[in-house]
Formats: sequence, structure tokens, C-alpha cells
Amino acid sequence: MSDTQRGLFLSLEGTEGAGKSSNLAFIKEFLDSKNKNVLVTREPGGTPFAEEIRELLLTPRDEVVCENTELLLIFAARAQHLQKLIVPTLEQGKWLVSDRFTDASFAYQGGGRKMSFDTIKQLESLVQGALRPDLVILLDLPVELGMQRAAKRGALDRFEQEDLEFFSRVRQAYLARAEQNPHRYAVVDASQPLSSVQDDIRGVLESLV
Ligand code: TMP
Repeated sequence: MSDTQRGLFLSLEGTEGAGKSSNLAFIKEFLDSKNKNVLVTREPGGTPFAEEIRELLLTPRDEVVCENTELLLIFAARAQHLQKLIVPTLEQGKWLVSDRFTDASFAYQGGGRKMSFDTIKQLESLVQGALRPDLVILLDLPVELGMQRAAKRGALDRFEQEDLEFFSRVRQAYLARAEQNPHRYAVVDASQPLSSVQDDIRGVLESLV
């Protein structure tokens, strides 16, 4: 795929309670207003089959899900999502915004679960080749605040049931990746009021359109 012809690929990341849903809607609205043809999708998920894998991953259950099982299922869903939706969409010149992508694997499985970053990198190369998001918007906030917000949403999924230490490691892994690749990441302070978060996101997007 030629990079000059393909659409832009953005991902939105953050720990629990960072406000991804409201900000995703804002991003879509902003890009629509700039006449960008944008498709919004999510991970795990994005195609019917990958959404079934999402169900498997998120449903709390008695049987402990092994770390390798979780990681492979996430990349299985990603492989399906990429081939069936992401790559064809970008090849049509459309923009695509994904609610989470592989940075979440480095943060949750690498940081949170303490799995090997090298193993995740190998799966990333296997499944994605050279394809990476052009820009990752990271909604960052203190873990305690995010967990308070997430708790108000009701029933917790399998990941949301993890403890404060887990999410602290997830946050640190996200921030470390952003620090290592500053040109590919925009870190937005998500502890601010929503209107200020959206002002910051607008600033990031204006530099792209
Ligand atoms: P969310 O889209 O509502 O945030 O839920 C998705 C959950 O899946 C979230 O808790 C993070 C987790 N996840 C991973 O652990 N690794 C991944 O690679 C992705 C995409 C998501």
C-alpha cells in the first residue's frame, strides 16, 4: 500500500475512565466538519468475527484466562480487523480512527500483565507488517481518578476488574511509549474538564487536516 495514497490511521488510547467514548464522538464530528471521510472502529473488535473474540476476552469468567491465550486472541481479532476492515478502508483513501489498537497490547499485556514486549513486537510484525497508526492520541489521567469514573458505569468487564497496581503499570507503559516516539503520540491531559480535553484534541487534529 502506498503511504501517499492511503488515508490517515489514528488510534485513541487511555486507561479506564479516560473518556474515550465521548472524545471519540468529538473526533468523528470534528473530522466530518472538515469533510474528511472517516470510519470509526474499535479493538478488540471491528468486524463481526472480531467482535465475537471481544466478547470472549471481556466477559468475566471463573476459568482463569492464560496470558498467552489472551494475547493471541487479541492479535487474532486484530488480524481479522486489519484484513477485513482497516487495510481496505485506508486503501480507499478514507481516514480511520480506532478506539484502541496495538499500543493497548503493549500497555495492558506488556505493562499490566508484565508479558514480554519482544513477544508483542513479534506478533505486531507478524500481523501488521509495517502498518502502524500515523498518530496515537493518548488520553492520560491519574489511575485513581479513572477508576472512580469507570466504577460509576456499573458492571465491570474482565479487564476493569484488575487492581490499581495493574492500571498504574498500564499507564506507565503508555507514557513510556509516548516518550519514546514523541512524533507519533499526542498525550492529552484527560483529568481536565471535558471542554478543555476537547480543545486540546481539536488542536492536535487541526495540525493534521
Ligand atoms: P474498552 O474498549 O471498553 O476500553 O475495552 C477494551 C478492553 O480490552 C480494555 O480494558 C483494554 C483491553 N485491551 C487489551 O488488554 N489489549 C489490547 O490490545 C486491546 C486492544 C484492548
